[in-house]
Amino acid sequence: MSKFPSDKPVLVTCGLPYANGKAHVGHLRTYIPADIFVRALKKQGQEVTFVCGSDTHGTPIVVNAEQLNITPKELVRKYHKHFDDTFKDMNVNFDAFGTTDDPENYNRTTDIVNKLIENGYTYPKTIEIAYCPECDRSLPDRYVEGTCPYCGETARGDECDQGCEKHLEPGELKEPKCTICGGAAEYRKQEHYFFKLSEFKDFLLEHLEHMEGTSNARNYAIGWVKKELIDWCITRNLEWGVKFPGHDDLVVYVWVDAPIGYIAFTEEWAKENNEDWEKFWKGDGRIIHFIGGDITYHHCVFWPAMLKGAGYSQPWGVVASGMVKIENKKFSKSRGYVVWVGEDYLDHGFHPDLLRYYLTSYTSHTKELNFSWKVFQEKINTELVAVFGNFLYRTLLFTHKNFGEIPEGEIDREVLDKITDTITKVNKPMGEYEFKKAVDSAMALASYGNVYFQSNEPWKLIKKDKAACGKVVANCAQIAKALILLFEPVLPQKMEDAWKQIGMSSDVHAATYSDATVLVNSGTTLPKPTILFEKIEDDKTEEMETISNKRVAEAIAKESGTKEKEGAVKKMEEEIEIETITTEEITFDDFSKLDIRIGTIVTAEPVKKSNKLMRLEVDIGEDSPRQLVAGIKETHDPEQIIGRQVVVLANLKPAKLCGVESRGMVLAGDTEGAVLLMPEEEVAPGTRVR
Ligand code: MSP
Ligand code: ZN
Repeated sequence: MSKFPSDKPVLVTCGLPYANGKAHVGHLRTYIPADIFVRALKKQGQEVTFVCGSDTHGTPIVVNAEQLNITPKELVRKYHKHFDDTFKDMNVNFDAFGTTDDPENYNRTTDIVNKLIENGYTYPKTIEIAYCPECDRSLPDRYVEGTCPYCGETARGDECDQGCEKHLEPGELKEPKCTICGGAAEYRKQEHYFFKLSEFKDFLLEHLEHMEGTSNARNYAIGWVKKELIDWCITRNLEWGVKFPGHDDLVVYVWVDAPIGYIAFTEEWAKENNEDWEKFWKGDGRIIHFIGGDITYHHCVFWPAMLKGAGYSQPWGVVASGMVKIENKKFSKSRGYVVWVGEDYLDHGFHPDLLRYYLTSYTSHTKELNFSWKVFQEKINTELVAVFGNFLYRTLLFTHKNFGEIPEGEIDREVLDKITDTITKVNKPMGEYEFKKAVDSAMALASYGNVYFQSNEPWKLIKKDKAACGKVVANCAQIAKALILLFEPVLPQKMEDAWKQIGMSSDVHAATYSDATVLVNSGTTLPKPTILFEKIEDDKTEEMETISNKRVAEAIAKESGTKEKEGAVKKMEEEIEIETITTEEITFDDFSKLDIRIGTIVTAEPVKKSNKLMRLEVDIGEDSPRQLVAGIKETHDPEQIIGRQVVVLANLKPAKLCGVESRGMVLAGDTEGAVLLMPEEEVAPGTRVR
């Protein structure tokens, strides 16, 4: 039996974004599927509340603010607004979007921590805390690096991130080093408070067995709990955060007050709407957390234990997505593996709904998603444009032209059955967090619509038998109406438009699936239809790939230390506010990986499609000259640079720029316009640079 709709109210939450950086496509894999799920539940008549907020505490925020010379509050306010705006732009519609810095959260956190203390689930313990004498600060978590005591790999303070992935407690890390200044850290004795997670083993095993959501979350968590539960240190030496009761020099660990934000934001929503937050957190309403797989431990182990210990209800389900990667690499700002929601997507004029479609229809929710502009283009062009968009447009255009309104006509039994059957085929996987299956089922109805239109040949019928033609058209309009409702969760803005185009004046977001089989309004005048989905051209995809490749190339060059002095590459978008400049040291080995050579330009010609790019052929001592693309069209004349010697990074991964392959990079000083590097005197092409 399907779990939704149910009499129990549903609360959906999303992993809180850190208010410490810009929104990227990886983040969206938590928020978009959650938003789709919420909209789809509403379409089934389910009562559902959707809350989220910014995660504003923790050491990274404090350190970042310090480096920018602003207060943590100023920093998080900025990013809170950024995320709020981004969610609005992407049509992610929370009922409340607070911050963990709100008074509601301070109060709720204090209450919960006091309950844990009263119930005997905390204890003080003197531990060794890493301290950097150079920076004169305690170094929690990610600000210490050293050797993992379990596997010997390089690890950071709270987690063996490159080795055994174990959670590390403060003081456990061997040979600690400060990651802010690179200096050796020392351990200092300090009293901290611990949460007795180890006492929750039986509770957790029982809880997890019945936990709903995706099986990856459940299975991982059961594995961890069975293995070993270590008590968690829940205090930190910071000023910024929620004070640990009775200790002015300590705040609670960010992973204590962050999930409590889910409760605080429910309270904010309740206050605003004259509602009751306790129906979820003290009652049996269903709480469903949407998260990325990276924070499963916190949500499936630590969090339910904390709630249980303080006498609150526990989550009913946890839906954990696979991680979004690029070129099969983890998202990493410093390595250039990132796709920003603003500057890499929305700012290029892409419609938000397209990304919503791509992220949910690409692969199953629990699998990794390797972001690709090519696949994005293909999915949009061959599915949204060629199937769904095509069906809507041809139906509406034909109707508009030949009838001006949706004509009367009996809807075939078969069509109504097909619609009802599709609703089931969408609802069932949706209730099982199989978003791809749900979207594919809806798309199958659009294919059916195309076949229906094609095989009934209304363009022939209109000449012979207008009534018969009207019936075909009415059936197509009915299919269109159902499709619009079925796609509204995924494509809310586009479907709002389509709803009007089929002559509906009601609110498509509030309509339910039961409306899908309610006959279309015949007799309503139809506006002239417009095309809803436009094809994405190859040029555009190439442009996006270029941006992406370039960012990685620049990051590699930057990492290789060529950045500041030689200015070999354009600066990575340091822009707004935050990106802190790191001049990380590299070893000689790192440097030797770069194959830098002197070459002679033999051909130079502007790349037609581009304002900036020039295609070069450079003799670097190989059998034939290398083709390279350089951003020097605005600053250099092709004639004048032929014969010139330049410096080339020869073993950079080839990339296509505006459709032209570049097998390496010409190095240039990064000032206003590019300044090419050249040797002091002419040397043999292929001469190595060291
Ligand atoms: N602040 C914590 C969550 C606290 S929840 C009480 C956090 N913030 S985050 O900004 O790093 O991530 C926000 C959400 O995006 C989380 O659900 C996280 O899992 C998700 N993702 C962030 N990067 C991601 C990918 N590259 N891929 C998929 N999801 C990822 O974690
Ligand atoms: Zn330091």
